[in-house]
Formats: sequence, C-alpha cells, structure tokens
Amino acid sequence: MNSKARIEFGDFQTPLPLAREVCNRLQAEGVAADVIIEPTCGHGTFLIAAAETFTRSTLRGWDINQSYVEAAAAALKQAGASKRSSVQSQDFFTHDWEMELQKTSGRLLILGNLPWVTNAAVSVLNGSNLPAKENFMGLRGIAARTGKSNFDISEWMLIRLVRALRGREATIAMLCKTATARKLLRYAWQNDGRIAKAALYRIDAAEHFGASVDACLLLARTGSAGPETTDVYDSLSAARSSVRMGLAGQDWVADIVAYRRRRHLEGLCPFQWRSGVKHDCAGVMELRSAKVGHFENKLGEVVKLEPQNLFPLLKCTDLANGHTTPERFVVVTQRHVGDDTAVMADTVPHTWRYLQSHRKKFEARGSSIYKGRMPFALFGIGGYAFAPWKVAVSGLHREPSFRVIGPSKGKPVFMDDTCYYLPFEQESQARLVADILNSEPCRQFLQSLIFTGVKRSVTVDLLQRLNLSAIAEEAGLGKQWRALERTDYKTSQSAPQLQLVMETASRTSRRTSPKPASVRYSRRDKDVTQVADKVGLQMPK
Ligand SMILES: C[S@@+](CC[C@H](N)C(=O)[O-])C[C@H]1O[C@@H](n2cnc3c(N)ncnc32)[C@H](O)[C@@H]1O
Repeated sequence: MNSKARIEFGDFQTPLPLAREVCNRLQAEGVAADVIIEPTCGHGTFLIAAAETFTRSTLRGWDINQSYVEAAAAALKQAGASKRSSVQSQDFFTHDWEMELQKTSGRLLILGNLPWVTNAAVSVLNGSNLPAKENFMGLRGIAARTGKSNFDISEWMLIRLVRALRGREATIAMLCKTATARKLLRYAWQNDGRIAKAALYRIDAAEHFGASVDACLLLARTGSAGPETTDVYDSLSAARSSVRMGLAGQDWVADIVAYRRRRHLEGLCPFQWRSGVKHDCAGVMELRSAKVGHFENKLGEVVKLEPQNLFPLLKCTDLANGHTTPERFVVVTQRHVGDDTAVMADTVPHTWRYLQSHRKKFEARGSSIYKGRMPFALFGIGGYAFAPWKVAVSGLHREPSFRVIGPSKGKPVFMDDTCYYLPFEQESQARLVADILNSEPCRQFLQSLIFTGVKRSVTVDLLQRLNLSAIAEEAGLGKQWRALERTDYKTSQSAPQLQLVMETASRTSRRTSPKPASVRYSRRDKDVTQVADKVGLQMPK
C-alpha cells in the first residue's frame, strides 16, 4: 500500500503483542464474549489475539481492503479458528450496523482499532474514504471550514456503532486517540448512549504505531446509564487508575476529583480573554532589529521599515520562560479588522513596498479566514491589542504562568496567536489580576482542567471559566479585588470586542457569575462570530 492510501485508510496495523496485551486485560477485567466483532480487522491481529483469549467466542471481521481480508482469514485458519470465524470485505460506511447488531445475540464484544485519520486529512488527499454526510454533528459553513467540524474518522465510526447498539448491553474495546475516546464518551453521555462504565488505559502510540499522539484503549460497557466519569490507567498493566476524568456540565475535566474540590472557583470571567495577533506569514511579518532603521526578517532579508507599524512581539516560549523583554517585532497592518491597508502606501511607503514584494506569500495563506479580506489582513487586533498593559499566558504549555507585560520603549507589546491575554489600562490592575491568576488555588483549579497530550493545553474557553472574584477571596486577595471592582475596570474591555463574548456567555450561562457587561450580538453574525472567537478578533460592525 502506498503512503497516500495508507494515510487515507488510517492504516496502522496493531502489532500482535499489543493486541494480546489488550485481550489479556479484557479478560482480567471480567469481559466475556459469545460474539466478537472487529469492524475494520486489517491483517486480523485482534481476531487472532481474541481467538487465543476467548476460546469459545464466534469471531467476525470486516475490512475494506480485500488483500487484508484474505490475510486475516489465512491467519485465523493457521490459528485453528477458521470454523468459528468469518472475515469479509466490507466498507464500514455502507455496512448496515443496525441489522448486523440486531441479528447478533449473546454477550457482544466490539474489539479492534479503527482508522487513524481525520476527515480533513482525507479531503486534502482528495480521498473518498469518508462517511456520506460529513456534517454528522450538525456543523456547517464556516464552522466546518475552520476546523470545528474536523473529526477523526474513528470518532465517527465509534459514534455510529454506539448509535447502532441502541442501548443494548455490549462491551466496546477500541484502541484510539485519547481525545477520540473523550469525544465518544461525551457524545454517548449526552445522547442516551447508555454507557454503564468506562475506563481508559494509556498506550505508547510512538512505540507501537510510530505516532506521537496521546492514545489509549477505550473500554466501555453499554446497556444502562452510568456515571459521567472514566478512570484513567497509565498502562495496560496498571493495577490502579492514576486519575479520574469526567464531564462537569458540558465540559470535560482532566481530574474530576480535584475539580469537585475546587469547583466553587468556576464561573464566568468578568474579562474577555483574547488570542494574540494572527497573520500566518511569520517569515515576512516577524523581524529583529538590524542596523539603525533596518530590520531582519526570518528569510534573512534586511529591510528598511518605518517604525509606525512595527510593534514589539512576544511568543509562547517567551511567556513560558519568563522572557518578557521583547526582541522581535511584528508588522501590524491594521488597527481593527477590516481596516483599509492601502493607506500604508502613503503613510509608511517603505513598509508598503516591503509587503508588496512578498504579496504572493500573503495570497498563499492557507486559512480561508483571509479570503475576501484586505491585502496583508490580520486577525486578533482591535482596541484591546493596543492596550498598554497585558496579562498574558502561553496556550501551548501545560503549567500556565501568567506574565505582566508592560509597554516596551513606549509601545504596547503584542503576542502571537499561540498566546492569550487580558488587556489593561493600568499596571496596578494587571499586577493584581496576574497575582490572582498565579495564586495556588487558581493553579490547582487549572491543573484539574488541563489535559495531557493535547496541543493547546490552555484555551480561551478554559480561561473564561475562571471566577476571578472567588479565586481572589481564596487567595487572600479579596480586598484588593473588590477595590478593583469598584473602579471602572471594565472600560479597557468595552464595546469593540463584545460581539465575541456571546458564544462563551451563552454556553456558560448555567454558571453563577455575572455576565460581562453589555453583550451585543446578532444572530446573522453567528458563524462569523464563531470564527472571530476562535482567533480572538473583533468583527467589523
Ligand atoms: C488502524 S488499522 C487497524 C487494523 C486492525 N483493526 C488492527 O488493529 O490491526 C485500520 C484498518 O481500517 C481499514 N479501513 C479503513 N477504512 C475502512 C472502511 N471504510 N471500511 C472498512 N475498513 C476500513 C483499513 O484497511 C485498516 O486495515
């Protein structure tokens, strides 16, 4: 199989020792099966391991690849299990799973390892190995284009199987990305999937599949509704779970026990967190100081630029390492989203000529959010981006450190889009809020929410859950916080950004804290607003 097809079909065959380890753990957990179904059986390693462990079970496997079906059938024959097994060529997406599962009686185990590929990756390859209705969770339009509807094929398949089970008793044991397991469980819990019990057993995906991703064995028993929590074991052989994850309302939390101890610190943050500036053209837009009036870009070119549109820049590693004195600059082409960039031809002719000389690079920016925008358009800008003081945090580091960032040589410092921040007019406000965010109660609460193995540990959604007032009280900073609340502290957060607050405000309305002031929002803008929210930008009125 060539590498394109291998990716399209998520073709990472499970090594036999791993399949055996999984089956041994299932047996140790008391799983018994009259019928074992392997929906995408590949070479048949899971069928072989299951035949060895569950010596009386009937085994049924399917795969889209005819040569794999033949290999699996031959392996089962060699293992002496051909009489109690059947393997057929079949496309998962057109298989009538309701019929298949209805006609299956007895104790049922659905076992295996579904394709490891996302719908976006299949589309990029112009592949067709996708379900007929891609928007199966009701995502459309811009949400689909921005990746909100990007899903793992295995997630889709697992949901398909849970739906087809229609609440009957069965055991599901699947190797998958840990994020996929979480999504499946959330879906099942929220859609009457009747998960009686679930557990995750971490596996080393790099060792077994050469993939650097957080992966696990998902073990779920269906048939009745159980608690919305799952124990996590650090390996297939771990005797005890290391942590219990679970759903708190609609949101997953990484450590539900620690979360419950600190859930009084959850609420709706009175400030709107922002993403740093997004330009997707670092080679041209990010520069360092060279000789006087000149700057060197990442392509090694030294160019003369006017200072007006250059702002000091910090990145996530700077924030994580406490390097808060900027050494880079970013070209800021607009003050607000939608501003006409052509004025730069007159106001900053050197900068304009420099950008024009790289126009093709900007036009080649992949993200569809730039379509139909001004040349050299940015996101993540608005009045807030020019605020003199900021409290900023890296989105990519697991241990959040909130840094106070003040002006550099009289200019507001910008962050890139791997960072989040709150803008402030006054240093004292920023320092107090940073103290609250760096306090021990806040640190512990955040740790209960942050997952390992995800690219963005910290997100706007997560930061908006911090009830600063409650955290301040617990951290012994209540008096100072109340004094800040009595001042006009919301002014630096005001109108220009407020359309973006809505998504978070409505989603978290069940929570106890007050909403941020005067949320304005129109239904017509919803899709655009969601994109805006994703990149932390202000939409034009
Ligand atoms: C990750 S591999 C796992 C194979 C096997 N379950 C194992 O554990 O070794 C995924 C398998 O899914 C099969 N597959 C991909 N798309 C499929 C589809 N639409 N229908 C059925 N099988 C499919 C591939 O051919 C591949 O064998």
